[in-house]
Amino acid sequence: KRTVVLISGRGSNMAALIEAASDTSYPAEIVGVISDQPEARGLRVAAARGIPTRTIVRSDYASKAHHDAAIDAALNGFNAEIVALAGYMRLLTAGFAEKWAGRMINIHPSLLPSFKGLEPHRRALEAGVKVHGCTVHFVTPEMDDGPIIAQAAVPVLAGDDEASLVARILKAEHPLYVLALKMLAEGKVAMEDGKVRFSAGT
Ligand code: GRF
Repeated sequence: KRTVVLISGRGSNMAALIEAASDTSYPAEIVGVISDQPEARGLRVAAARGIPTRTIVRSDYASKAHHDAAIDAALNGFNAEIVALAGYMRLLTAGFAEKWAGRMINIHPSLLPSFKGLEPHRRALEAGVKVHGCTVHFVTPEMDDGPIIAQAAVPVLAGDDEASLVARILKAEHPLYVLALKMLAEGKVAMEDGKVRFSAGT
């Protein structure tokens, strides 16, 4: 399945997906990367791997809807079948989310529905939870709210600070995202009536 990754920054999840997809037996192919940030490090990583990139900056558009329309046009230009958000730090308009419903996934560094939104690691440390983790879910108009495809749990250790917890979770994110995209591309997971449906696939 032709997959486009949306990023805003570092792009380590994107790089993990590119790496996995470089194996021809992997069911998704990363055909493009779109960033809303011209300086995103991930853009250079993608280009170095020979993946076409586009930068679509919010301030070039009159409204959020126009910006999302430009992203949608770029996705169509790539003939995208799946959209993977990987550290894309912007909320999408409901219209865009609905248009790609069931074909767009996101990774969030918490065990959703806990700690939606920004700085989940810091808030998890403050809350004193002993288990944290990451989630891949279908994207719906509500932030970090769509049906859950896969999660990985990670222990919070005594002495952890934000940096150590971020690093431990990021290590779990990469294989989790690779697995979740594989399941979607193979048709083993789908979104139906706002819920996740698992099947043997095609
Ligand atoms: C990851 O922690 C991801 O879960 C979150 O933003 C971060 C992006 O990191 N949505 P990277 O750009 O993939 O390295």
